[in-house]
Amino acid sequence: MMSIRWKPWPKKNACCPGPWKKTGCCYSNTIRDTLPDAPGKTPKVFFWRNKLNYNMSRNRLNDLDSKTYMKFLKSWFPFETGAEASFISFFTKTLDETNHPTRIGYYPDSPVLKRAIETTGRQPVSLPDQSDEQLHYALIDLRGKEPSFFGEGDLDAIFHNLFSRLKHRAYVTLWMNCGTDMAAHRCAWDVARQTTRWFEMKDEKIGCAGMTDNDQPYLGAQGGQLVYAFNFRHTLSAPKAPASLTPPPHYPEHQWDTRLRMPLWFVLKPPPRKEKVKLHPAKYPEVLVERFIKNFSRPDDVVFDPMSGTGSTQIAAVGCHRRGYGLELNETFADIARLRLEQHNVQHVAAAVYTADAGHLEQVKGLPLRFDYVITSPPYWDMLNMKGAETQKSRKEKGLPVNYSDSETDLGNCPDYATFLQRLLRIYHKVIQRLRPGGYMTVIVKNIKKKGVIYPFAWDIVDGLSDVLEPVGINFWLQDDIRLAPYGYGNAWVSNTFHQYILTFHKPGKREV
Ligand SMILES: C[S@@+](CC[C@H](N)C(=O)[O-])C[C@H]1O[C@@H](n2cnc3c(N)ncnc32)[C@H](O)[C@@H]1O
Repeated sequence: MMSIRWKPWPKKNACCPGPWKKTGCCYSNTIRDTLPDAPGKTPKVFFWRNKLNYNMSRNRLNDLDSKTYMKFLKSWFPFETGAEASFISFFTKTLDETNHPTRIGYYPDSPVLKRAIETTGRQPVSLPDQSDEQLHYALIDLRGKEPSFFGEGDLDAIFHNLFSRLKHRAYVTLWMNCGTDMAAHRCAWDVARQTTRWFEMKDEKIGCAGMTDNDQPYLGAQGGQLVYAFNFRHTLSAPKAPASLTPPPHYPEHQWDTRLRMPLWFVLKPPPRKEKVKLHPAKYPEVLVERFIKNFSRPDDVVFDPMSGTGSTQIAAVGCHRRGYGLELNETFADIARLRLEQHNVQHVAAAVYTADAGHLEQVKGLPLRFDYVITSPPYWDMLNMKGAETQKSRKEKGLPVNYSDSETDLGNCPDYATFLQRLLRIYHKVIQRLRPGGYMTVIVKNIKKKGVIYPFAWDIVDGLSDVLEPVGINFWLQDDIRLAPYGYGNAWVSNTFHQYILTFHKPGKREV
């Protein structure tokens, strides 16, 4: 099997010996020196080479230089004029095998889309049309469509048409826009799920409308509108179900209470992690948690996290004068959490992290019987057990743990996604029993991408809790402090997922004063 080695950037002007000299260092220095990004600093990019002297200029997907290519891999981007052209240029080459312009399907028949395609030198094809000419990509702009549109048959006709004409392994992008209304997001997710009957979902990108860098220390740019860009690939040999879209169910329109409103998306550049907490592979920053704790609880309230890791929730809670409680299965992480609380010299307010399986929280002595606010982040299924991921390798080299534990009760060790989701939801339901009526719960989570398959973990959590909680809020934490890696370079769209869903739920009832 071909082995792939990951190498950090060589130092500026340094040249590596041997056969890599021409393609490796020189190329990577060029990217590192010039790669711009918005907003924030130039990201560091990992450059990969393998024993076959992989050449960065070999690119079967498009005609882009590596700098432009790498920029597109980030899973969030400023949504502005010209976004159409950047998608078209990423997902297609200018000319097909016969040296004719590639053909791009588009919907709706708008002059803006048509012009955008023409400016890239490709041929626009308004969908659906009667021709049977092959298409190389399709951009379907569904911004502003009402849920009822998805039952009217227009999109069915387009998908039928595309299914027979789109080149095998070519891409389709659906654009859908959303604001702070949770129902609109759920509608978009539903349409994306239904589209998987025709095409395989490969990734999502978050387009941030009106992005400017307002240069706050931790919270950078922020805004109240976004565009989902769901990216699909034509790999199925036949549609999996009768190809007919149904309008998404009527989701209740829970508008944010203005008092609690947070920006829909924000860019976070947290301070670097301290030595001890680096032991944990997936910690969230206290500056983020503090914002939510302040929004959704009052001084002296009980804030709870059933999977506390190194105690970020409790540290943030006591910093906001709330009582901070939590459970953590892994003894080492729980010890670090307790040590951190000790170092914070918490005397003014109660706080504790117990080493325990959250699946049996009723057996934990000392845990309050009522929680006022819950904020938590689940394991990313068994992704930490996946060998070969770049972070795994670099953590191993530094002697840091690569997974949470080997325990069977650790949700990060569940063998299949369905069991994992079911067990997590069971734990959450137990936690919710102790959440007081009128209380809020926030879950910070990413959709999972494993071996080329997307598991819509964030969306499944919303569906799985909707029987007992009202999903009232959604925010996107856009990460701007992680290095880009060229997954799938030159062959396939594999984004660097640098966005996390922050989902907030409300337990029906009123808070007693
Ligand atoms: C994403 S991490 C949480 C990180 C934490 N928010 C922080 O900032 O440090 C998920 C945690 O869940 C823990 N965990 C997994 N299964 C558990 C279970 N059954 N009960 C309690 N904790 C569990 C893991 O050990 C891991 O530390």
